[in-house]
Amino acid sequence: MGLSTDAIHAGQESDPTTGAVSVPIYQTSTYEMAELGVTRGYDYARTINPTRSALERSIAALEKGQRGFAFASGMAAINAVFSMLSTGDHVVISENVYGGTFRLINGVLKNFGLSFSFVDTSDLANVEKAMTPHTRMVFVETPTNPILTLTDIAGAAKLCRRKDATLIVDNTFMSPYFQSPIPLGADIVVHSTTKFLNGHSDSVGGAAVAVKKEHIEKLHFIQKSAGAVLSPFDSWLVLRGIKTLAVRMDRHEANARAIADFLDGHPRIKRVAYPGLDSHPQHALAKKQARGFGALITFDLGGLDAAKALLSRVRLCSLGESLGGIETLISHPATMTHAGYTQPERDALGIGNGLVRISVGCEDAEDLIADLQRALDAV
Ligand SMILES: Cc1ncc(COP(=O)(O)O)c(C=O)c1O
Repeated sequence: MGLSTDAIHAGQESDPTTGAVSVPIYQTSTYEMAELGVTRGYDYARTINPTRSALERSIAALEKGQRGFAFASGMAAINAVFSMLSTGDHVVISENVYGGTFRLINGVLKNFGLSFSFVDTSDLANVEKAMTPHTRMVFVETPTNPILTLTDIAGAAKLCRRKDATLIVDNTFMSPYFQSPIPLGADIVVHSTTKFLNGHSDSVGGAAVAVKKEHIEKLHFIQKSAGAVLSPFDSWLVLRGIKTLAVRMDRHEANARAIADFLDGHPRIKRVAYPGLDSHPQHALAKKQARGFGALITFDLGGLDAAKALLSRVRLCSLGESLGGIETLISHPATMTHAGYTQPERDALGIGNGLVRISVGCEDAEDLIADLQRALDAV
């Protein structure tokens, strides 16, 4: 089936008991046994819950994987994936990943004898150079946050196969509607479902989708053992959000293209990063490996004062963390999502104090452009 059809139907079959077309919220912690030692397939809700299972089937189908796992947040999903490693293992990872991933690695995972090399994965030669005999995983965020550089997923998959490493792609920014890392060769896809999959800024959640039996078994074991599972209500919210994924993503992207064109020509703006612009250095790769360019745009106003002036004047664009909701969110990566990096680290990544990121929502593009125009006039 096509992605729009799968978004509405995969995993979301009518309830077998009542025919309810909306998957019920199974708000239960445990299940009555048929008799001693005999369950109906459900024993305890940390291990299995029908609402969560429906979401896991839905996301696995959308990502074209074998099995999905839903977690209490995107970070919990990423932590579960890294929990597959053992002391001494090494990971190569995109250098400007989401700040929370960076914090998890430096503040927690490194204490367990794991090592990580942060490299610019847009050049696969850097990935190969950083690999050691202990490299077990390559973790790629593409496009990266907030600079929007891309990594060649198929190329990375080929390299990982050659080096016997597992390729993990954080597909949060593109959503499965625009990008399918698994058919391109990735082994595991992770998501913050908080973003486009749920799409309504009213749930925090995460997911991992795997293909190989060994990964599926490990992730299942970690999910039930560590227990950072998504609640039944949040699972239902994400299922509901996914039903409109296709229509939302089309609108997000149409608006983003219009806004990127507007910003690109604006005299106050030094540089606009959007994979859909011809000026994006990896525009050709974006066209090759994805079905769209997404809804994230980053632009540089040259300094903190200009960024502050803009952010204090926008009215329709809400100043806030996060992305992927139907409402347009605007943020300042240096002091918000990437506050966990030191200034020299941010400088090295190109996350200057004048950088502003927009997650373009589904409002009318003309209203968003008018809001930005008004705010930019005062910068
Ligand atoms: C690309 C990316 N991955 C992972 C996460 C973490 O997700 P969560 O906030 O749901 O824990 C985020 C959060 O912003 C993100 O942007």
